[in-house]
Amino acid sequence: MRQNLIKKGDEHLRYEIREIVEIANEIVKRGVPMIWENIGDPVAKGESLPTWMKAVVEHAVREDRTYAYTATKGDLETRRFILEHYSDPRICTTEDIIFFNGLGDAINKIFANLPATARVIGPNPTYPSHATAEAMHHGGHHITYPLKLDDGGRIDLDILERTVAGDDQIVGILVINPNNPLGVVHPREDLEAVVRIAREHQCFLVFDEIYQHLVFDPSKIVRLAEIVGDVPSISMKGVSKEIPWPGSRCGWIEVYNAQHDANFLDYINTIVVSKMLEVCSTTLPQIVFPKLVTHPEFRGFLQRRLDKYRRRADQAIEIFGPCEVIHPVPPDGVFYLTATFDSARFPNHQSLPSQNQEVRAFLDALEAKNTLRRDKLFAYELMGSEGVCVVPLSGFASPHDGFRMTLLEEDEALYLDTCRRIRRGAEAFFRA
Ligand SMILES: Cc1ncc(COP(=O)(O)O)c(C=O)c1O
Repeated sequence: MRQNLIKKGDEHLRYEIREIVEIANEIVKRGVPMIWENIGDPVAKGESLPTWMKAVVEHAVREDRTYAYTATKGDLETRRFILEHYSDPRICTTEDIIFFNGLGDAINKIFANLPATARVIGPNPTYPSHATAEAMHHGGHHITYPLKLDDGGRIDLDILERTVAGDDQIVGILVINPNNPLGVVHPREDLEAVVRIAREHQCFLVFDEIYQHLVFDPSKIVRLAEIVGDVPSISMKGVSKEIPWPGSRCGWIEVYNAQHDANFLDYINTIVVSKMLEVCSTTLPQIVFPKLVTHPEFRGFLQRRLDKYRRRADQAIEIFGPCEVIHPVPPDGVFYLTATFDSARFPNHQSLPSQNQEVRAFLDALEAKNTLRRDKLFAYELMGSEGVCVVPLSGFASPHDGFRMTLLEEDEALYLDTCRRIRRGAEAFFRA
């Protein structure tokens, strides 16, 4: 090529949740069946969509307007619905609600439209799309503040405040509440402190609230709209998790207090223009969304799913409990379970027995350079010996070693067996 085609910072382009699948597929090809615990897709894990839900979608498919473009920001009727049921008219209008093709699309546009020197600090561990998109727009590492894994995943407010105060390039603070991968819900006092820090340092806020309705005790969750005051902010929500309809590729942002800061408003307008270049987001799920969440069966359906996730979390914690090396973080909701490893006890290089010589040779070749993060090595070895695919915690921009699994499995016996396999794999790995 006449010029280099690779942008500065492309080495940060990572998405471990799917990248691990490539390795897993190689292992499957060599004859080891895999239990997929990597991706947060309820439908892929066997949750079936109820008939009433399919009937609503079928009905919408018969309406011609679901085949048309929408306005750039999305279907106006649905944006009115969201303003009334999900947002707050005191800080937001229908013009401040913008639809995207999934929050993944929104995440890309939010970061890509900032200048490279304007940074957004995010949690660690974090959902990797945020970390990667922020790192890519800057061309360097993502800046993070820790969630305290030994204290229920609470935000380390001291580090957050010190980092924001000491770095003028930080213009925004990202909070994921409830968090992925931890599944924890942040307490009101911590969130109010984050809002104060943003206000004092003239930053905007981004709250990813896609899991807002997947909380075991709904009284625990405090939404950004309740505490934001006058700080310019973005709340991100979507249909992938709560409906659950991840294949719809449908999510939206609610912009709060846009009028309070001319520069922030201009920034939001650049996001709208970049959506305009694509014309709009997919119409059908936008039109269907209000009908699904107001359907008389919806609340019961959601509650049954939540009851299952809570049961799954309890089952995993019970199985991991007696194992000295796995430390699960009890979730407040969502459908993931994260566990950390005891770093001090981590073996230097350990392999697990694999019955299959081809798999052993494949893993040995991958591991030969000895450059893999330790929890990635564990994840690879677990796939080879126990046939379970989890995501290493380092894939969530975390300095801690561990893994994330899901609480989604429909088949209870298979789920319990999966947890036992993970425990057996971890015990053998640490026995080095
Ligand atoms: C915290 C968080 N934000 C955003 C997304 C992206 O969701 P979508 O399917 O709307 O792109 C996910 C998906 O797993 C997520 O966990």
